[in-house]
Amino acid sequence: MTIPILIDTDPGVDDAMALLLALASPELDVLGVTTVFGNSDDIRLMTANALAILALAGRDDIPVAAGSAHPLTRPYAGRAHLVHGDNCLGGVQLPVAPRQAEPTFAAQFIVDACRARPGEVTLVAVGPLTNLALALRIEPALPKLVRGVAIMGGSARASGNITPAAEFNIFADAEAARLVFGAGWEIIMAGLDVTCSPRIAEEYLDRLAAAGNRAGRFLADAFVHYLAFYRSRGFTGACMHDVHAVMALVRPELYTAERVCIDVETAGELTRGQTVADFRGLWNRPAQTRLLTGVDETIFLDEFATRIARLP
Ligand code: BDR
Ligand code: CA
Repeated sequence: MTIPILIDTDPGVDDAMALLLALASPELDVLGVTTVFGNSDDIRLMTANALAILALAGRDDIPVAAGSAHPLTRPYAGRAHLVHGDNCLGGVQLPVAPRQAEPTFAAQFIVDACRARPGEVTLVAVGPLTNLALALRIEPALPKLVRGVAIMGGSARASGNITPAAEFNIFADAEAARLVFGAGWEIIMAGLDVTCSPRIAEEYLDRLAAAGNRAGRFLADAFVHYLAFYRSRGFTGACMHDVHAVMALVRPELYTAERVCIDVETAGELTRGQTVADFRGLWNRPAQTRLLTGVDETIFLDEFATRIARLP
């Protein structure tokens, strides 16, 4: 049985990897892609990237809907061009997609798709959680209409990557993240506790490119700038963050996890955007989150490369 999913993304080099993994996975049926600000606040760029990645994979049949260009209440905190490059795809120019996005706003698109298949759809969110929060505003019963939510975001025991306390996607719209974590649905959280391993470098990029397909070559090329950023920060390899939100759906047994209640700090002077995990059950609230804590790195890397090689 395939899992119908919607992917909400701010593409992004690792977003591109996650998207292509989803398209290459027979366990998943990608019903649509929605875009959100995050790695850039140019929502047209984010949407053009999503369309171009789908075109690269020969999937112009999958609808794309553009979403929010800014957080719910606060100003946009800053572009991630240093990490992802000026066009957010490591400077690699993909051919412009032969089509436009849907006329529907992302949040409405999410609600419509979930209403059409009650209880079936999993939302995969690999950018700031603004579109999901807006979808909850449109349809407060959304948590009952979806099967679950898989998020790349947050950090329960690890430190942050945009502030010492906060991970980028959650920090980018902490108010939206708080609404999403509090909505009462089943959450898989692929946060920095798990997404910082494995780290990959040239050897693995060569392996992706060696498959000879355009998806593998594109990822290997796009990753060069992203890897250089990590190197500039003293790391030998770079993280595949968003990929974990997808891999956790197709190969859940590769991950260790624990159940915990997670909430988001929105007010802290130093801790805004922190995902606070109640490991001791002190809040007496339902442990709504399957927090991923570790991954079998060897199988993860094999699985990713093997699947990407199947694409055009
Ligand atoms: C997250 O930040 C973005 O730059 C990446 O695409 C990923 O979603 C990692 O903190
Ligand atoms: Ca992302």
